[in-house]
Amino acid sequence: MNAPTLHFYDLHPPLADIKEEVLKGLSCQPKAIPPKFFYDEYGSQLFDQITELPEYYPTRAEIGIIKEDGEEMVSLLGNECLLVELGSGSSQKIRLLLDALQPAAYMPIDISKEHLLKSAQVLATDYPDLEIHATCADYSEHFHLPYSPDDKPKAAFFPGSSIGNFDPPQAQALLQRVAEFLGQDSTLLIGVDIKKEPQRLNAAYNDAAGVTAAFNLNLLTRINRELEADFDLSRFEHNAFYNEPQGRVEMHLVSNTPHEVQVGGQTFEFAEGESIHTENSYKYTVTQFQNLANKAGFQPEQVWMDSADLFSVHCLRVR
Ligand code: AVJ
Repeated sequence: MNAPTLHFYDLHPPLADIKEEVLKGLSCQPKAIPPKFFYDEYGSQLFDQITELPEYYPTRAEIGIIKEDGEEMVSLLGNECLLVELGSGSSQKIRLLLDALQPAAYMPIDISKEHLLKSAQVLATDYPDLEIHATCADYSEHFHLPYSPDDKPKAAFFPGSSIGNFDPPQAQALLQRVAEFLGQDSTLLIGVDIKKEPQRLNAAYNDAAGVTAAFNLNLLTRINRELEADFDLSRFEHNAFYNEPQGRVEMHLVSNTPHEVQVGGQTFEFAEGESIHTENSYKYTVTQFQNLANKAGFQPEQVWMDSADLFSVHCLRVR
């Protein structure tokens, strides 16, 4: 048995300035706050609950696809590869691949250093023969692999339809950067949510238990705490709907009364019915996503879906 090896690279990603970004977003017309700020400690817990809701199909569908077709995925990624995960979080889904693949090394990349280190340590205990190169970095900015053996093929795993938070031009730019840091002939395994009937999409973002509403409203709780703001949560309502012409689910927080809010020493006025746009979640047909990937420098190799065609996992190769 090999000794477990856990390497750590801290690329010191500049942390998002929540105050600057929230003040800027609230000064825009229409008002908007980026979805990356959902994930404080409680927000991350709420998101984990969302993934288990009966209405929220993406996580279950993606896990089902990987369980069903993991062997074939792994044969395209190749044993003895360097397996990179973008936004590894708690490194749960990667276990499905690691059980079918013996990569030469696993490189989880995450912006949250604490979360990254904790998860990497747990994984190192459960997979004692796995060489781990934990990397604290923001892969959405200019990025180089801190460990890049020339003799090993590279594969990246980008699950969860996280790509859906970017609008198509941003998503293309991000995929292009991924293609560049992976290099020619590398593969990317990426989960992408599929366009479908609006009722199904609307239900997934308006669950009966109200967890998604709590997740959306928690953004205001976080801003109250971290920015000395005085949002009154009873004056805002969760609103989520499928915008069919744009091909995206939008989430908003809508003011139910005209009022003023103080944030970081500034005053913001809300009209009755005025919203803060908090998230876009883009959906794609298989062909639409393959076209986007193609423009970003990838050759579509394979695509897998669940039996109800709710979700897709694409294997793409860098040209
Ligand atoms: C983590 C961006 C994939 O868009 O479905 C879930 C986030 N927002 N419910 C998604 C989310 C509301 C999720 N992504």
